[in-house]
Amino acid sequence: MEAKCRRHDSRSHPGLGHQSSLHIAILIGLLNVALDVRAEPVLNESVCLHMSVSPALTPYIQELPRLPSIDISTGVQVTLGVYKVSRSVHPELPNTTFYCYGTSGETASCPGPNLEAKKDVTSYVRFENHLTDESHLFVVDPTLRQAKPPRGGIPLITHLHGAETEPKYDGHAEAWYTAAGDTGPAFVTRDREFLNQQPETLLWYHDHTLGYTRLNIVAGLLGLYFIRSAHEPPNLPSGEFEIPLVIQDKQFLPDGSINFPTKSFNLSVSSAPNWCPSYMGDVILVNGKAWPFLNVVRGLYRFRILNAASARTFRLMFSDSRVKIVQIGTDGGYVWTPVELADIYCPPAYRLDLLVDFSAIPVGSTIFLNNSYMESLATNNPTTARLVMKLNVVEGLPAQNVSIPTSLGPAPNLTEVISQAAYRQLTLSTQSEPYLREMLNLRVWSDPATEMPQLYSHEIWDIVNLNGLGSHIIHLHLVNFLLLEWQPVDVLKASRGLCSLSKPFGEPDSCFTEAPTPAESIGWKDTIAVTPLHSLKVLVPFFPRSGGSYNFDATAFPGSFEFALENPKNAFVLYL
Ligand SMILES: *[C@@H]1O[C@H](CO)[C@@H](O)[C@H](O)[C@H]1NC(C)=O
Ligand SMILES: *[C@@H]1O[C@H](CO)[C@@H](O)[C@H](O)[C@H]1NC(C)=O
Ligand SMILES: *[C@@H]1O[C@H](CO)[C@@H](O)[C@H](O)[C@H]1NC(C)=O
Ligand SMILES: *[C@@H]1O[C@H](CO)[C@@H](O)[C@H](O)[C@H]1NC(C)=O
Ligand SMILES: *[C@@H]1O[C@H](CO)[C@@H](O)[C@H](O)[C@H]1NC(C)=O
Ligand SMILES: *[C@@H]1O[C@H](CO)[C@@H](O)[C@H](O)[C@H]1NC(C)=O
Repeated sequence: MEAKCRRHDSRSHPGLGHQSSLHIAILIGLLNVALDVRAEPVLNESVCLHMSVSPALTPYIQELPRLPSIDISTGVQVTLGVYKVSRSVHPELPNTTFYCYGTSGETASCPGPNLEAKKDVTSYVRFENHLTDESHLFVVDPTLRQAKPPRGGIPLITHLHGAETEPKYDGHAEAWYTAAGDTGPAFVTRDREFLNQQPETLLWYHDHTLGYTRLNIVAGLLGLYFIRSAHEPPNLPSGEFEIPLVIQDKQFLPDGSINFPTKSFNLSVSSAPNWCPSYMGDVILVNGKAWPFLNVVRGLYRFRILNAASARTFRLMFSDSRVKIVQIGTDGGYVWTPVELADIYCPPAYRLDLLVDFSAIPVGSTIFLNNSYMESLATNNPTTARLVMKLNVVEGLPAQNVSIPTSLGPAPNLTEVISQAAYRQLTLSTQSEPYLREMLNLRVWSDPATEMPQLYSHEIWDIVNLNGLGSHIIHLHLVNFLLLEWQPVDVLKASRGLCSLSKPFGEPDSCFTEAPTPAESIGWKDTIAVTPLHSLKVLVPFFPRSGGSYNFDATAFPGSFEFALENPKNAFVLYL
């Protein structure tokens, strides 16, 4: 979804190496502001990484809202539409125009409603596109590969991030559709069937359209998706004591509109004049409101956190060290052993399931939830981005019969699997000529597939971030993976070909500057931030989380779609 943090949305299909990536990272069409000077004043130029600061807003004056919730476990199809709506993010700022999900234009919200699914109960969701705008809210870069609806309009396709789901319901980046009825080449259906057969967890849904994902998520197209069951750990806080927190950053103009860059930060790159690979804003929103406050009682809470920012990583800390934080879950569900945290590291698209204990804090206290993460791009570190939320400890009855579990299940023993896994090294880098592009293994999205993992095999992926600046977010569709180890790389030498990435640390000419550090992996992930100047090794089982086999054809269309385009003879052979 963006790009210093180029969210590389690597699908687990043959295109792995290429087609995977960029959709999230890429952008969009052209806003013809200059052509229509009568209707609207020409927008002020907004330059990537140099946007004008947002109007000053008083923090902590509005209460954290609860997001609306929809039960999708009834067997009845639920329809969620995308609407253009006006919503307030702060009382001191005029309303903002968003694209939001909802059951109607009146009830649409940004973030969209929480979808509540039950494990092993199929959910039926139709996603409709009600956007009739001719041009997008934001400037679309015409030079990037993107959806091109013949009749114009805003193309949309929703992806359920982290879901074990059939290819045709996965939200392929080329499966977009418009309100006028145009469809992308990988389009199958607007009606989704989600099997919910994976472990209980928090997923999120978001737009995933080729070339528009980044814009559409900043415009508001995302929401939470819970999978629950009757067999979850007992004694966890629930109801009013379970609090979903969707955290995002945005920048605003004085008229309340979202300030999204109209110009690339590097004006000498003519191939992507409007592409800002790192959108980071100076206003922090939680559940759609700027810097809200939350009243809590002296007791245990469950916080379900999603970082839905385009590029900003958060490292969250409570200002009072007596607040105890214990992580009980991650992207793929419960961890095996709960872990006490000093702070909350949360790159884009990560989900964290936390127990937060305010028992030791006296009533009347005020606690701040602050962000201490320093982005490597200095201009993206306004002091306002260090503020997130305020908590007031108030009088009240805490959650009853709740406790912090000490174990949530056995850690998997993967010794044998790891010793037999196939190995693959993948590099992440940026090409500037002839086009500015994000690359996976020196390939771009439109290149033919090179990586073809086999269904029902295990692989170790060694992902090397050759960018010196930002982290690069990698997300695999369909499968979960486990972080095994990480290792620093001499990126300067590596990118000039002066060392070898295939030689281990210690050998002459190795690009690795230290021995690998084993990761303290606590649970299954679908998203990982590959930090700059590092390689990360992950174990990827091409299996469902149940360990058996998929109850659908994981190799079917349109997973292999782009592969089909480039290599018609091999079409549809492999999805994984
Ligand atoms: C555009 O710039 C002018 C002059 O700097 C400023 O007064 C105006 O508020 C800006 N408009 C927007 C929408 O930011
Ligand atoms: C502003 O947004 C709020 C919701 O956040 C909405 O209720 C209200 O109708 C909006 N005002 C306008 C003028 O659209
Ligand atoms: C507390 O939780 C335990 C375990 O789930 C349950 O057996 C017990 O009935 C609960 N007690 C109360 C008072 O709710
Ligand atoms: C956290 O935020 C509060 C309120 O904005 C501020 O007063 C405090 O200095 C911040 N603490 C840190 C460590 O940044
Ligand atoms: C894990 O499995 C291997 C054999 O596959 C065995 O040798 C080892 O003792 C096991 N480790 C643990 C901690 O059970
Ligand atoms: C801008 O792009 C040009 C052409 O690729 C490159 O030579 C130059 O170093 C870039 N400048 C910055 C600041 O990235």
